[in-house]
Amino acid sequence: MSNFLTSSIGKKVIMSISGLFLIAFLIVHLSLNLLLIFDNSGELFNIGAHFMATNPIIKVVEPVLALGFVVHIILATILTIQNMKARPVGYARSEQSNNASWASRNMFILGGLILIFLVIHLYNFWLNIKLPELGTPLEITTVDGVEMENAYLMVSSLFKNSVFFCMLYVLAAIFLGLHLSHGFWSCFQSVGFSNKIWRKRLEWVGYLFAIVIGVGFAIIPLYFLAGFAG
Ligand code: HEM
Repeated sequence: MSNFLTSSIGKKVIMSISGLFLIAFLIVHLSLNLLLIFDNSGELFNIGAHFMATNPIIKVVEPVLALGFVVHIILATILTIQNMKARPVGYARSEQSNNASWASRNMFILGGLILIFLVIHLYNFWLNIKLPELGTPLEITTVDGVEMENAYLMVSSLFKNSVFFCMLYVLAAIFLGLHLSHGFWSCFQSVGFSNKIWRKRLEWVGYLFAIVIGVGFAIIPLYFLAGFAG
């Protein structure tokens, strides 16, 4: 077992399992965030954010999610360094230069850019909610008689007042989409869920998923920037 975990294949499998976990997180995160543009009063988003902040199951899942990110990043770094050592002369040139292969050759760079975005993103929002003493404490609002933090005001203020941050979030959504266009089926393949027929199918599901996530995250800042929220 310890041999498996230290082997390249073992690391790739664990990286893929953490990737699948992150995919699940993205589905939940995007679904909640889309409430931002479906209700301009902000009540729906605030109810959703309040539920996520107070639900005991989510409280357990959050540190596991953080661990998933750390595992994914550490193993991606180790595997990339090992690959570079094993293949000092770039093999990329021999690959087809279509979109997917570009993404597959640049997974580490795309992942790094997403990580930089993530640090800024957590500073923008997460810090104010979780560590208000270090950031800007949120206003309190009342929805259906329940007092909660006005997370909608925090997010909408950022996007309404900063073209720079809107563009940064759109760019991050594009990088994330590209990362997923290869990462999605690659995760399934590494955990053994792929043969000739399924590989093609998973590739297409992966592209679709990448587009949904990329476009989904990008339209939120654009919605506010375009003034649709009023
Ligand atoms: C329009 C785009 C986005 C919006 C409006 C948004 C909003 C938020 C908000 C409000 C929080 C704080 C939630 C809380 O702690 O209660 C948060 C946390 C977080 N976001 Fe985003 N997010 C966006 C895009 C992304 C993207 C693209 C990623 C991944 C690459 C991401 C990853 C995370 C993570 C890991 C956390 C911390 C875990 C959590 O609190 O759930 N977000 N986001």
